[in-house]
Amino acid sequence: MIKTRFTEMFGIKHPIVQGGMQWVGRAELTSAVANAGALGFLTGLTQPTPDDLRKEIKRCREMTDQPFGVNLTILPTLVPRPYGEYIDAIIDSGIKIVETAGNNPKPFLPKMKEAGIKVIHKCTSVRHGISAEKVGVDAISMDGFECAGHPGEDDVPNLVLLPAAANVIKIPMIASGGFADARGLVAALALGCEGINMGTRFMATKEAPIHQNVKEKIVSSDERNTALILRTMRNTSRVFGNSVAKKAIEMEGEGKTIQEIGPFVAGAKGKVVYETGDLEHGIWSAGTCMGLINDIPTCKELVERIVSEAEEMIRGKLAKAIAA
Ligand SMILES: Cc1cc2nc3c(=O)[nH]c(=O)nc-3n(C[C@H](O)[C@H](O)[C@H](O)COP(=O)(O)O)c2cc1C
Repeated sequence: MIKTRFTEMFGIKHPIVQGGMQWVGRAELTSAVANAGALGFLTGLTQPTPDDLRKEIKRCREMTDQPFGVNLTILPTLVPRPYGEYIDAIIDSGIKIVETAGNNPKPFLPKMKEAGIKVIHKCTSVRHGISAEKVGVDAISMDGFECAGHPGEDDVPNLVLLPAAANVIKIPMIASGGFADARGLVAALALGCEGINMGTRFMATKEAPIHQNVKEKIVSSDERNTALILRTMRNTSRVFGNSVAKKAIEMEGEGKTIQEIGPFVAGAKGKVVYETGDLEHGIWSAGTCMGLINDIPTCKELVERIVSEAEEMIRGKLAKAIAA
């Protein structure tokens, strides 16, 4: 067992987290992660309404008696979402762990703290980590440039970002972006973190509620098969490098507006990719760690493999590297 301040704080067995994933973070995956002894997050905004989120939390509880949380992504969207009402649904349902992302969680913290909720804030820079710590979150999930989804605009990969953040952040921090195996977990611990957060790796598991074609595509792809879209709008997103992503980048190069590009990159089209397995229907998020993913295990097999190999590496290869 690998015990850290993070596993202690959140009452979990293993220092591994499944971060929020739009359209993917549903009860099937989150409960399987929880049953594996790791920390799973339902993705709040995947549910069309706060009431649907209440139902999804209930459904997840029917599949696990282990702790799990809800991700609330506070990004500016074309159609504004009632964040306050989603938080009410989270609180009413007795959820005690929330992952916030996308924007400063300060306005939402007092209500969550009053309800005894612990908040992990996901951010992509040292300065945002420092401000999140200042406003009172309990832990930080630090997402490097490698990650799927929104890597921010600074382009700093985790080998530098994590130790730079660990130099100044005092609350527990987990490493996110590019993690997929035991080597990543051991490196994260060495870089000053107390666990890892994974997105893409958990998509390629038996329980992830997405089409088999997507899982197989992740396995057959490598670290070069992602694309960065919406860079020119300073709203960068790392997605699978399919024809739609390439078209969006081409349109950006031609100076097209978000109104013109929007329909190509709409999230609703990504949802269809996961449902039908038509990999070219829209954009879908995936990270560079595709280069490290070679199978489709169950969540339990994956979590146990990462932890046991990490223990073996620390006790064996690393300990032996010290000259007698
Ligand atoms: C399909 C997919 C959807 C995602 N959607 C969200 C989201 O809605 N909110 C969020 O905070 N992060 C989202 N992320 C980011 C993940 O929570 C996590 O930070 C990221 O995947 C870590 O990088 P990795 O994929 O290299 O493990 C998403 C990632 C993926 C792969």
